[in-house]
Amino acid sequence: MSALVIVGAQWGDEGKGKVVDLFAAHADVVARFQGGNNAGHTLVVGDARERTVVHLIPAGVLHRQTTCVIGNGVVIDPSVLCGEIDDLRARGYLTDPAQLLIDERAHLILPVHKKLDVAREERLGDKKIGTTGRGIGPCYEDKMARRGLRVVDLFDAEYFRERAARLLEGRNVELAQVYGWPAIDLDDLCREFATYAERLRPHVTDTALYVHEQLAAGKRVLFEGAHGTMLDIDHGTYPYVTSSNIVTGAVGTGAGIPPRTVNRVIGISKAYTTRVGGGPFPTELHDEVGAKLREVGDEFGSTTGRPRRCGWFDAVVVRQAARLSGMSGLAITKLDVLSCLPKLKIAVAYEVDGQRLETVPAGARKFASARPVYEEMDGWAEDLGQARRFEDLPSAARKYISRIEELTATPVTLISVGAEREETILLRDPFLL
Ligand code: IMP
Repeated sequence: MSALVIVGAQWGDEGKGKVVDLFAAHADVVARFQGGNNAGHTLVVGDARERTVVHLIPAGVLHRQTTCVIGNGVVIDPSVLCGEIDDLRARGYLTDPAQLLIDERAHLILPVHKKLDVAREERLGDKKIGTTGRGIGPCYEDKMARRGLRVVDLFDAEYFRERAARLLEGRNVELAQVYGWPAIDLDDLCREFATYAERLRPHVTDTALYVHEQLAAGKRVLFEGAHGTMLDIDHGTYPYVTSSNIVTGAVGTGAGIPPRTVNRVIGISKAYTTRVGGGPFPTELHDEVGAKLREVGDEFGSTTGRPRRCGWFDAVVVRQAARLSGMSGLAITKLDVLSCLPKLKIAVAYEVDGQRLETVPAGARKFASARPVYEEMDGWAEDLGQARRFEDLPSAARKYISRIEELTATPVTLISVGAEREETILLRDPFLL
């Protein structure tokens, strides 16, 4: 039995897509267990540097031998999912419907969720969370309020209509009376979703059972996390977080497997830090160094296109993420980007109210006032794109990686030095760590 979890160690966009794509070559199944199309993975493959962006379908989809699973903990916008299926088919992927399995218990994002997400953010003005506007929060709210609609409901038109009517009753009042937006029409909704039922039917099953059977048969299952630990609804920088759990523990509920099944966890972190949306970010750089990281690292959101906020590597954040998820290894991405800077800094602790703090404080205001305690390190100027072994890296880069290992108490498993599959230094087999 081999279950490997990949989880983001920062605020998302750590480069999980590339790592999942790489590890998927060794996996029989790749499963998502939380989040929705607020995530986005950019995959770059082949001589033509073909770029594929997926938001819902697991990043393993480009490996034809890998079965992709969208677990029950994911929230699914069926219009987006159908679009991704069409797009991948047009490029010659996903030719066999059995390569993609969708859980019947996953919740559906409805048009009213997307509208509410945007309307609320507009109303919040400069206090907004900076959501992706994809309806993620309102959908999870309805799930917890026990009025949500699930994939299985698509196949019982009468029940779907009855439940949708009940949901819209309250949500339309909020949309129209609080925000002055037009209400959603029940007939239109039922008509639209009936088309998705037919499109998705060949993929829908009990994926928890499927994953269980695969693990029992000794298959290698890779659980693909979305976003990053600091966006976790419980352990992140609340309220500037997403609406799902992101830490490894979420695999248990979001994929329907017992937690003890997980035997390997790889955390993904950039060699520096980025964040999109609002919320505290102690090592953020508002100067030309931050602008340089954004430019060289091409730091623009793959879901919304928004410029990402950039800053130094924050060892406090990654250490906390490693502890919360029990990371057995770290994958450090975009090390090549740092070649543009002569000196580097790493935050090793914070100073808050004159006190040294080694962990991320719970209070948003306290965290916003945290001043990083930096350690300065030498940079390097060499292009790292050709490095394939740890020894190929300049000594300053090797020292930087070793310091990250010490500060986060986690061994580095993989180093990424470019967007393509080959631009990678693999230090240990992820499934055998
Ligand atoms: P939501 O998930 O759309 O509700 O957005 C909540 C917060 O999480 C916002 O700050 C988003 O920018 C952030 N967020 C959600 N998903 C991702 C992701 O995959 N990468 C980076 N930030 C994300």
